Amino acid sequence: MSLEEQYRTDANLQARIGLHARFSTNPGWGRWLFEREAPGPGARILEVGCGPATTLWGANLERIDPSWQLTLADFSPGMIEAARAVLGDRAEYFVADVQELPFADESFDVVLANHMLYHVPDRSKAFAEIRRVLVPGGTLHAATNGRGHFAELQALVGANWPFWRHNEAFGLETGPPQLEAFFADVRVERFETGLVVTEVEPVLAYVRSSESYRGGDLSEVAEMVEAAITRDGAFRIRTTPGLISCCKP
Ligand SMILES: C[S@@+](CC[C@H](N)C(=O)[O-])C[C@H]1O[C@@H](n2cnc3c(N)ncnc32)[C@H](O)[C@@H]1O
Repeated sequence: MSLEEQYRTDANLQARIGLHARFSTNPGWGRWLFEREAPGPGARILEVGCGPATTLWGANLERIDPSWQLTLADFSPGMIEAARAVLGDRAEYFVADVQELPFADESFDVVLANHMLYHVPDRSKAFAEIRRVLVPGGTLHAATNGRGHFAELQALVGANWPFWRHNEAFGLETGPPQLEAFFADVRVERFETGLVVTEVEPVLAYVRSSESYRGGDLSEVAEMVEAAITRDGAFRIRTTPGLISCCKP
């Protein structure tokens, strides 16, 4: 599945968000992220690859400061439509690729790039664009995952699902050295959580909905997840989300 096809609408992403929403040991990711990413009053905020805006904004609607100037961008028109349904006239919306941003130099105090930089083919171009639109001293927050994310499920599905590639492309370990060439004061914070899954189908839906899934029969995976649930009461999956933050010098 191409990236454009994957994100034409928010349906695939919502299947994955749904697994976290139902089975996370710590359901507070969206609230945690908001507390770290929210700037002071009057800030001009740009979110790139905003998706349907449910995780960050939808989970914190009552905490959105009306003095913020909020700009949401995504390369998928379907995602922008979904984001608009969540935030309405609290934000401005742009269909835009992070590698070529349609904004003036130094026009934002904060840029957010949550779980999206690992998809970007030319990340140096994206970092240069983000740095260009930030004011000096402005902040970039980029959420992603660390190594070992979904390790137990990856082990069952194998080569048909090279999901680990996201974290090698831009993860909590591999992202900071890439950012250091463009930004200062690069730091990482991890969010402690995991999945304790008690149903088979949401696990399969997660794999099927992912752009890295190359097809192939999942019936053996289903049997092994079912066996773990019967034996241990649940199929436990390690998840390793976190946040990388840095500043434009
Ligand atoms: C995994 S989703 C994350 C969505 C949202 N940030 C969140 O955390 O829920 C990745 C998003 O990045 C968008 N995206 C991928 N590549 C992009 C690019 N080059 N420029 C802008 N958006 C992009 C996709 O359309 C999708 O909405």
